[in-house]
Amino acid sequence: MTVPGISRSLENAARARAADLLAAMTLPEKVAQMTQVEKNSLTPDDVAKYGLGSVLSGGGGNPEPNTPGAWFEMVGGFQQAALQSRLKIPLLYGSDAVHGHNNMVGATIFPHNIGLGATRDPELVRRVGRATALETSAVGVRWDFAPAVSIPQDIRWGRSFEGYSQDTALVSELATAFVEGLQGDLGDPTAVLACVKHYVADGATTWGTSQRVDRAALEIDQTLANANMDERFLKLVAEGAWQLDQGSSDIDEETLRRVHLPPYGAAIGAGALSVMASYSSWDGLKLHAHRYLLTDVLKGELGFQGFVVTDWEGVDQIAPDFYESVVKAIGAGIDMVMVPFRYEHFMDTLLKAVEQGDVPRARIDDAVSRILYVKARLGLFESGAAPDLAEVGSAKHRAVAREAVRKSLVLLKNDGALPFAKDQPLLVAGSAADDIGYQCGGWTVSWMGGPGPITPGTTLLEGMRAAAPQADIRYQADGVFDVRAEVGLIVLAEEPYAEGMGDKEDLQLRPDQIALLERVRAQCDRLVLVLFSGRPLILTRQVPMCDAVVAAWLPGSEGQGVAEVLFGDYAFSGTLPFAWPASMAQIPLSRLKGQEPLFPLGYGLTTEARSG
Ligand code: GLC
Repeated sequence: MTVPGISRSLENAARARAADLLAAMTLPEKVAQMTQVEKNSLTPDDVAKYGLGSVLSGGGGNPEPNTPGAWFEMVGGFQQAALQSRLKIPLLYGSDAVHGHNNMVGATIFPHNIGLGATRDPELVRRVGRATALETSAVGVRWDFAPAVSIPQDIRWGRSFEGYSQDTALVSELATAFVEGLQGDLGDPTAVLACVKHYVADGATTWGTSQRVDRAALEIDQTLANANMDERFLKLVAEGAWQLDQGSSDIDEETLRRVHLPPYGAAIGAGALSVMASYSSWDGLKLHAHRYLLTDVLKGELGFQGFVVTDWEGVDQIAPDFYESVVKAIGAGIDMVMVPFRYEHFMDTLLKAVEQGDVPRARIDDAVSRILYVKARLGLFESGAAPDLAEVGSAKHRAVAREAVRKSLVLLKNDGALPFAKDQPLLVAGSAADDIGYQCGGWTVSWMGGPGPITPGTTLLEGMRAAAPQADIRYQADGVFDVRAEVGLIVLAEEPYAEGMGDKEDLQLRPDQIALLERVRAQCDRLVLVLFSGRPLILTRQVPMCDAVVAAWLPGSEGQGVAEVLFGDYAFSGTLPFAWPASMAQIPLSRLKGQEPLFPLGYGLTTEARSG
């Protein structure tokens, strides 16, 4: 079965190249192609020595200095080494470009998927994918661990913002568009391999079922140490961290197939050639060891022709015994292992398993054939023109990002306070009003993200001053002003987080945020709330206190896009990609049935853009 959109001759050529190479490979070389290592755990010489298949930058896996030039040198060094290996098989370098090439300072940072979901605009998302591909391939990164097609059922999940929506059809539509944009014309030097994740039903886990963190021991493992987790970690665990992420999806097969599987079929139909397995479990089995779902359903029923990669240390979680874990993962249909640290131990273990007959040679050949086929389809064996570093953070891409920001904003309430007049006094409060880090959220420069001027762009406040130079804008982060004004704006944000670190039991605003809102409320006649968040938060008590409320999600580096809509240069058009719960009692989604949320899925007020 050919992958749609690929001409048979190109496909046949790729298959022929894969077959020729496979016939020439030794078993150790085949195992090396199935091995992915994180970039701090090896040297380019190791890549040349073993003929490794892939190197990755995990969250925050940037070179020092973190510049496009240094990225180009780092990735190029590993690639050149791969071409020194015996069979000169090119490397696939991967990174999480989940909202632009977000590990790289200077890259355009687009709204996270939840904001793109609010746009409901596949043509725009296709352009976001293409711009992302240009900014990643420019530095040699040709594999993007995106799009996530998670369909979050419980927004207490720290990965809710990586999902486009709770609506399966919308997720399928936007994932298709992103894959088409990112991969573009496969074989072109700017084509970037998509990686649809996390297969499957990663967003359907039950609170309290995650076993990722041993609460009793709390020794910080190397991965969490990479996140510089210290006393903050203990505080986050106390608030619910790692209760949901990587847990058990307790749903029946009909639900799995109806709600969570369709985006994979759609993305594969769009030509996606890699899939990442989920850490979560279904039907009592880790997805990383789930032969029925990985092989029978994904490769059999859906006809997936690409390869399946594990998540970071995903194999280690299968069983206490690593040998058993490797045997189960590869036997279930895993093709490449994101080890990512002790890769020689992994390769030795897999070699031993093949020699002992616990992993059939035919399974190894199938995995390696898939990997080589994808590398050939991507044109990695051809020496394409090196893309242009000037693409990184280009004005053109930032304009696409600003458009995405504008279209992602959801107006939840407006008693005439919006749009702002351009010549009126305005009080602006909240440190998030002038902070790119809060705008971007997790997966930005570092794994967890963080506040501050972490990457170039425009803050909301800077955008406001540019959009309305005549307005008398008074900014006090603490909301203490020496004047009253007709209109006040308060900008609140979630503290940036990623993955299970963002699992949170209580989604109400923090007491300090409520106090700030009350303080500003007392100093203006009309109050506007803008919220930067990775998910709906509980605002039921705060909405009546405000004259307008805007859900801005995690808009990224182009805060000016928010300002342009607040001042009416563009209309509000976004609609909720998730129902907005009235209380914690309406979370997870299953508990919303038969009840009225504060705002329903698809809700969003509109305004008229200022004429002229
Ligand atoms: C992480 C995430 C996955 C990411 C991978 C590489 O743990 O689960 O989404 O692509 O590791 O960074």
